[in-house]
Amino acid sequence: MEYKFGIQVFILLFWRSALDALVSGNDGGWSQNSEYSLTDEGPCNIDIWDKASLSHRQFIQQYAYSKPVILKGFSDNTKFQFLCSKSSLLQEYGERMVRLSTANTYSYRKVDVRFEEFVDLLLRPQSLDTLGSDTLYFFGDNNFTEWHSLFENYKAPRYMLPHTTGAYSFGIAGPGTGVPFHWHGPGYSEIIYGRKVNNT
Ligand SMILES: *[C@@H]1O[C@H](CO)[C@@H](O)[C@H](O)[C@H]1NC(C)=O
Repeated sequence: MEYKFGIQVFILLFWRSALDALVSGNDGGWSQNSEYSLTDEGPCNIDIWDKASLSHRQFIQQYAYSKPVILKGFSDNTKFQFLCSKSSLLQEYGERMVRLSTANTYSYRKVDVRFEEFVDLLLRPQSLDTLGSDTLYFFGDNNFTEWHSLFENYKAPRYMLPHTTGAYSFGIAGPGTGVPFHWHGPGYSEIIYGRKVNNT
């Protein structure tokens, strides 16, 4: 049996201070006009490895089937990041339709809108009292024919699981948003711009 092996590619528009943006220099144009502030969610206790020090065998034995791990510098997605800047994505895909879904666990309401409309009107910070069922989220549901020219530039992490194939899920979300509790098999999540808090 073949298991699907998910890779999420995510642009998260978590707010960063002006200083933060100056220091790291590159937000792809995504954090403009956001007055939203996120507080840090506490320390991160997940193991972190860089390419030079974690072998594939170690990865399989210690992490692949048992616990989360953060891999640093395993692939260079500079070009993909460039292609994911706000202006580049709008220019290339602004007129295309994207399928949004609500952020509640079971009853996903699906809505199709132009990508440009999603970015200009719906991509907003979410306040704590907004219901997931009222929030439209671009989270997967990608048309791989239309987005192929972007996805073919993504370099997936090299450490795969035996007998698996990959499946991409590409999304963009506003500050303070998140999807609810959900299930899937093993997967990677890579943040192209912004920050993401993972609660596992
Ligand atoms: C994906 O895009 C192609 C090309 O525009 C279109 O023909 C096809 O119907 C789309 N698929 C879905 C599931 O919307």
